[in-house]
Amino acid sequence: MHAWLCTTPTGVDTLQWTELATPVPGPGQVLLQVRAASLNFPDLLIVQNKYQIKPPLPFVPGSEYAGVVQAVGEGVAHLKVGQRVACLSGTGGFATHTLAPAALCMPLPDGFSFVDAAAFIMTYATSHHALIDRAQLKPGETVLVLGAAGGVGTAAIQIAKAVGARVIAAASTDEKCALCQEQGADATINYSQGDLREAIKAATGGKGPDVIYDPVGGDFAEPAFRSIAWRGRYLVVGFASGPIPSLPLNLALLKGASLVGVFWGDFAKREPQNNAAMMQELAQWYSQGRIKPVIDRTMPMGELHAAYARMGSRQVRGKLVMVND
Ligand SMILES: NC(=O)c1ccc[n+]([C@@H]2O[C@H](COP(=O)([O-])OP(=O)(O)OC[C@H]3O[C@@H](n4cnc5c(N)ncnc54)[C@H](OP(=O)(O)O)[C@@H]3O)[C@@H](O)[C@H]2O)c1
Repeated sequence: MHAWLCTTPTGVDTLQWTELATPVPGPGQVLLQVRAASLNFPDLLIVQNKYQIKPPLPFVPGSEYAGVVQAVGEGVAHLKVGQRVACLSGTGGFATHTLAPAALCMPLPDGFSFVDAAAFIMTYATSHHALIDRAQLKPGETVLVLGAAGGVGTAAIQIAKAVGARVIAAASTDEKCALCQEQGADATINYSQGDLREAIKAATGGKGPDVIYDPVGGDFAEPAFRSIAWRGRYLVVGFASGPIPSLPLNLALLKGASLVGVFWGDFAKREPQNNAAMMQELAQWYSQGRIKPVIDRTMPMGELHAAYARMGSRQVRGKLVMVND
């Protein structure tokens, strides 16, 4: 097997495509032939030692992937050789083969492609948990999605539309805004032009959004929170722009608004039954064609350095997926 090995977490340049012995699965593990692996934002951080989880060295990055079971370890009863699965395990995906925890593998129904499956769990689970569980989004309400053309952003647009909400999508270029419209956004804001508060006011008839989905943080958080509707819910999803913003708490008082934290990874660990029910609903929505990952492009697994550069420079629209031939 081959894998992109990180021996020194000082950046993408140090990742080496390395030949390794194909491992044998231990108890509770399966050996997968990786067919596709997507890039998530933590994949950028983990190879720079900037992510909250710091795997022991050396490690293979690649948080989320899909492939075929080649061998099963002791005690694995629900998966068999030849089965198609998707898995989000945090590391291991940027390789030809990987050992995956069987408990984290999601069996794939016919018709669920490897590319879509590798781009599914993180973004849709996060956005479903955020909008439906944490924000209690209702049909007819208005959602503002920041960073709307990114991975979690495109999933948020589709999920909000699936529950009958009105979606305002905000992104940094006209091309990204056009993509959001294709995904069902009712209105768009290019936040690299003009005043964000004025644009939100214009798009909501002065009322403000009922729910704000924020995976970007930085300078947009305060003007967005100032614009929220009465009884609004502001979802703290991530800080893709870097800085973690601070907010004057009087704004929450003045709008009767809530600041709502979203941490899907811990939700999945602490509330496994609720998470399983949510994943089942998402798989059903996928099979009904109500949601579908937006694939920016697929790239050969060997071109991981170029893929990282594309994501790091904000060029990706939707999800970037590495594939093995
Ligand atoms: N809380 C949770 O449970 C959870 C789960 C998954 C992900 N997240 C977080 O959500 C955030 C987004 O993840 P993602 O996978 O959707 O990433 P992504 O696909 O790269 O999207 C992030 C978006 O943020 C915007 N952005 C603004 N400034 C940026 C900068 N300096 N560098 C990169 N992007 C910038 C970009 O849109 P524009 O160019 O349009 O501004 C980009 O499309 C990350 O912080 C991630 O850690 C949180």
